[in-house]
Amino acid sequence: MEKIEYPLTQRRLRTSSLVRELTASVKLNHKSFILPLFVEEGLAAPRPVPGLGPVLVETIHSITGVVEKQLANGIAKFLLFPVPAGKQEQLKDFSFATNLVRTLKQTFSERIWIAADLCLCSYTTHGHCGVLDEEHTRLLNSPTVDVLVQYASKLAAAGVDCIAPSDMTDGRIGAIRTRLDALGFEEVTIMSYAAKFSSQFYGPFRDACHSAPQSAGLQNRKTYQHSPLNPADALASASRDEREGADILMVKPAALYTDIIASVKASTEKPVAAYHVSGEYAAIEALAEKGLVNRAAAHLEVWTALSRAGADIIISYAAGEARQWIKEMEY
Ligand code: PBG
Repeated sequence: MEKIEYPLTQRRLRTSSLVRELTASVKLNHKSFILPLFVEEGLAAPRPVPGLGPVLVETIHSITGVVEKQLANGIAKFLLFPVPAGKQEQLKDFSFATNLVRTLKQTFSERIWIAADLCLCSYTTHGHCGVLDEEHTRLLNSPTVDVLVQYASKLAAAGVDCIAPSDMTDGRIGAIRTRLDALGFEEVTIMSYAAKFSSQFYGPFRDACHSAPQSAGLQNRKTYQHSPLNPADALASASRDEREGADILMVKPAALYTDIIASVKASTEKPVAAYHVSGEYAAIEALAEKGLVNRAAAHLEVWTALSRAGADIIISYAAGEARQWIKEMEY
């Protein structure tokens, strides 16, 4: 039988690590990363979170050391999740969050950029992201926005660089922007959770923030977060947030929603952030622990996918390792 030759057509560009490096169009950079930080009021010592491995809930005292360490890793942008000690009926006392922001900005000043997550799920007795009706069966839109606007103004006055509303009510971006501008906080950025899906993958986070929904009449967040079955709703919300003044549009979860990242990116000139959420992170950590994936390579592969889809900014619990891993990345 005659031997057939199959000439190389594409493989020449894969034959050495240098040529692969040369032709790689996706360039990851640790400067595009944001690290989430959990800080709990009244906590005596940093507390581990099931599934999150080295990521701890920090105390008001330990957090400055963590930030210092991350600065040494080249990470200077943070997404802050303040966890208050008690739940509130009135939703008026945001002093732990504002004191935390003030302390961090006084300590690190321009060396860090802090976005504060803006949500009520760690504050409410029922764990929902806003104000419920008396029967605890519905989330009330306007009363929730009113509280969030108050909270955002206080965070801005404390010196936060960015407000990141994650509650998913309608109209909050416009209301917050209007109030911040009226108070003279024109430079405070808004990173909107623009497409935030009702997801299984927030589990470890809810342990970290004591924020799982508890109400018998409303057991999940489906009446305010996006349905994975309705991408058009998520995209419409993202462009609505942009029109209302969002500066950065975030998509979360990330790895399961690269189609949404790509669509949002295609429809905006604003930077797009992808939040690789706690459950997505924990999934990789669990596989790595079982020896089923290489931890660094698996995170790098996800980040590459997010970047390819169009994410300009990546929010990851492993952000502190990004610089080292990217440097050592084998092309
Ligand atoms: C608060 C909020 C959540 C996350 C960020 N902000 C949880 C939720 O909506 O229940 C999830 C982040 C993560 O899982 O890493 N509403």
